[in-house]
Amino acid sequence: MKEEAAASSFLLNIPYIRNMKLIIINGPNLNLLGKREPEVYGDNSFEEYLDAIKGKYPKLTIEYFQSNIEGELIDKLHEVGFDYDGIILNAAAYTHTSIGIGDAVKAIETPVVEVHISNVHSREDFRHTSYIASHAKGVIFGFGLKGYELAIESFL
Ligand code: DQA
Repeated sequence: MKEEAAASSFLLNIPYIRNMKLIIINGPNLNLLGKREPEVYGDNSFEEYLDAIKGKYPKLTIEYFQSNIEGELIDKLHEVGFDYDGIILNAAAYTHTSIGIGDAVKAIETPVVEVHISNVHSREDFRHTSYIASHAKGVIFGFGLKGYELAIESFL
């Protein structure tokens, strides 16, 4: 049945989306999206954006977790990192400082796509370092919130 659905969506040129379990994990200060430096991070809260992407991909299970605490981010990666289909991780400032989060991404099995809303490479030098990127499936940065959708697409 799954094969038939996949084959007919191929014939009709409609992307076949299997029911996958993805999680978006956001790190520190991203709870302030919409209020924080809107010229860099935009005017929308993440919750507004999340509702929109859940509507766009109704067949996917898209969970969301945000924390300002490094250890909580590591615990969440351990919790989901062996049975989810994909993790979309914006570790925010911890990207540039946290060997612990980098090691957690290396330790788990679920592929991780690293996302940044802003173009970190056009900003301060300290934002050019990532302890996550070398363990990630890929990295998307500089496309605003759309980067999360691009990351979702990379799992389909
Ligand atoms: C960010 C970029 C980081 O350098 C910064 O510390 C953030 C957000 C981004 O999404 O552009 O908090 O990860």
